[in-house]
Amino acid sequence: MPSPDTDISPLPTGPGPIGVFDSGYGGLTVLKSLRQKLSSLDYLYLGDNARAPYGTRSFEMVYQYTRQAVEYLFRQGCQLVILACNTASAKALRTIQQHDLPTWDPQRRVLGVIRPTAEIIGDLTHSRHVGILATPGTILSHSYDLEIKKLHPDIRVTGLACPMWVPLIENFELDNPGTDYFVKKYIDQILAADSRIDTLILGCTHYPILLDRIRHFVPQGITIVPQGRYVADSLADYLQRHPDMAQRITRQGQCRYLTTEDPSKFAQMGRLFLQSEITARHIQFQGE
Ligand code: DGL
Repeated sequence: MPSPDTDISPLPTGPGPIGVFDSGYGGLTVLKSLRQKLSSLDYLYLGDNARAPYGTRSFEMVYQYTRQAVEYLFRQGCQLVILACNTASAKALRTIQQHDLPTWDPQRRVLGVIRPTAEIIGDLTHSRHVGILATPGTILSHSYDLEIKKLHPDIRVTGLACPMWVPLIENFELDNPGTDYFVKKYIDQILAADSRIDTLILGCTHYPILLDRIRHFVPQGITIVPQGRYVADSLADYLQRHPDMAQRITRQGQCRYLTTEDPSKFAQMGRLFLQSEITARHIQFQGE
């Protein structure tokens, strides 16, 4: 029996934009790469800023929030949604793919960001010692260790949760001594845990927003890996292998932005990060 706030009307058919979802601003780092690589496609970005951060929330909450967001994007006409959020990819992707998609519409797709990152990591590390900086939720899920071990059994993976980074970003605290303290703290900790790390994955899509500060504290010779371009490469490859899905995406090179928080704040961050004028629209999920 559906709950009173469940919308049981059919999903819209026909082509639509690619949905890009994150708990907040982090997915913009992925969107930027998607738009560089696949510029003719249309995108609809949804940031659940009102409920960010997700990284310290339970499995059940991240699943429920992500499920709501994906369904919302499908109702806006998206046929394909990218979870541009590691926490949601780690905690909600599989259940949505296996449990929800078949009941919503088996033709639609939801893809995550962990697999494309795990796939390329074997080409980037020489020492075969890799570090993952991510949210507590992603680290506790062990998703990276499992995916990387499956593909590259010889790589040693060390993960570290950085619980302060997302709140700093979501609150625009990008460039001050307090932020530097927490950037340095986690970098020092992970390199102390394994001094042979030569590749550091930024396993949270928010972290590239701090890239300048991260670069400042990471010793030379260590490769820092933001995920955007690998997710974009992987999507391009996916669409080439699935022309039926490629045909269901509209192509006017446009992007629209939705946020569950203040749209003017969202536009401010968007401008700063995407270096272009954007406007965002406020949305609210049913029953919220
Ligand atoms: N940007 C997200 C990620 O990649 C989530 C950050 C958060 O909400 O804690 O994990």
